[in-house]
Amino acid sequence: PKNVGILAMDIYFPRTCVQQEALEAHDGVSKGKYTIGLGQDCMAFCTEVEDVISMSLTVVTSLLEKFKIDPKQIGRLEVGSETVIDKSKSIKTFLMQIFEESGNTDIEGVDSTNACYGGTAALFNCVNWVESSSWDGRYGLVVCTDSAVYAEGPARPTGGAAAIAMLIGPDAPIAFESKFRGSYMSHAYDFYKPNLASEYPVVDGKLSQTCFLMALDSCYKNFCEKFEKLEGRPFSISDSDYFVFHSPYNKLVQKSFGRLYFNDFLRNPSFVNEVARKTLGPFTSLSDDESYQSRDLEKANQQASKYVYDEKVQPTTLIPKQVGNMYTASLYAALVSLLHNKHSSLAGKRVVMFSYGSGITATLFSFHIQEGQHPFSLSNIVTAMNVSGKLNQRLEFPPEKFIETLKLMEHRYGAKDFVTSKDCSYLPPGTFYLTEVDSMYRRFYAKK
Ligand code: ACO
Repeated sequence: PKNVGILAMDIYFPRTCVQQEALEAHDGVSKGKYTIGLGQDCMAFCTEVEDVISMSLTVVTSLLEKFKIDPKQIGRLEVGSETVIDKSKSIKTFLMQIFEESGNTDIEGVDSTNACYGGTAALFNCVNWVESSSWDGRYGLVVCTDSAVYAEGPARPTGGAAAIAMLIGPDAPIAFESKFRGSYMSHAYDFYKPNLASEYPVVDGKLSQTCFLMALDSCYKNFCEKFEKLEGRPFSISDSDYFVFHSPYNKLVQKSFGRLYFNDFLRNPSFVNEVARKTLGPFTSLSDDESYQSRDLEKANQQASKYVYDEKVQPTTLIPKQVGNMYTASLYAALVSLLHNKHSSLAGKRVVMFSYGSGITATLFSFHIQEGQHPFSLSNIVTAMNVSGKLNQRLEFPPEKFIETLKLMEHRYGAKDFVTSKDCSYLPPGTFYLTEVDSMYRRFYAKK
């Protein structure tokens, strides 16, 4: 099979959301801290009737319907998530309800978990399967689903929630350039979830930023080496039309692209323009460690790369800024934003993706984009996803309601024997929702 990659996509995020500006006022922090300091506009969250399972049921059903895929045509289903509801039973097995109905129980794959990287692991598993000798000719299906919630404090505004489904197969409009991949895997305690009684992570925010940038440097170095070996010339930012990053919050994306730009400058000053050479010149003598700590360098990188950022990164930032960190779905929501904003001019373009999961697992990889054949054409994917429609139909909750919801969810996490509120009026038709968790912790969902 040739040009294996993403044939179709769909995204779901809860309509319920809170404005970052309102949250700033409520939290009593300085104005602009979340909107400019973190670069975030709005944050989606799950109420008591939604969770990672309901969101993934919703998005998978929607994708199959919109692209008229018979559930029997799916041969592999992989889920990436870091929102653990059950330590043994995979989210994938909940999704099997959709496929059992049509008599298809012959579907490989389970869940992949490592912070925000699980979706990428799931995607690679599906792509590798289609490219392998065990492929049976059917489609792969990847689901990224997460609800990101933090304890009270500076990390709380970096939450979010969403699920994304991606159909995988050959002759894809979004095709992998599988040979160009650079990974970085190591051991760190930057963000982790050791407290199994709580949904909240333990996070060292400052360390997580440094780990993110270190992983990016290392992945970029490996990616560039592989590219040069295969293509016989060096890679630089000018070789890709767009750069899509995992987006915990937009400021980190700005810093990350600045960091890539600095890498290019160090590798060969002629990769950047003359103004940038002057701006970045004073920082060439910094050691690696110093360079991660230097706020002056961070600002210089952002300033020097701003004009390229506006062209190659900004079109990917819409949904992450509006919905927040969606953990495993975050990188792919950034890709969805790019498709939404640029679909009519993407054919023939290269897109570089950076996936990061704390702990640490990270990979830089690339796609080659084509228009594709109906129904798997970029224009049809964009119509089906209806990003503007979904963003326009949101329901803003005041911060007090958001916090009340989080308090309720703290009690509900890991609990049994409860029914949820009957008020589902704010869910759009076709949305799955949680109705009950019984005395045996069994979860029941209904479709609106
Ligand atoms: N107006 C404009 N900017 C402001 C304002 C203001 N009024 N107040 C503060 N800022 C800026 C700061 O200068 C800083 O910007 P800089 O980074 O460019 O210097 C930024 O806002 C953040 O403020 P800080 O005080 O540095 O950090 P804070 O204590 O708010 O914590 C953090 C931010 C660390 C990101 C926290 O939200 C967090 O821990 N989030 C979760 C961890 C995370 O997402 N890590 C990313 C990788 S791991 C993962 O994906 C989960």
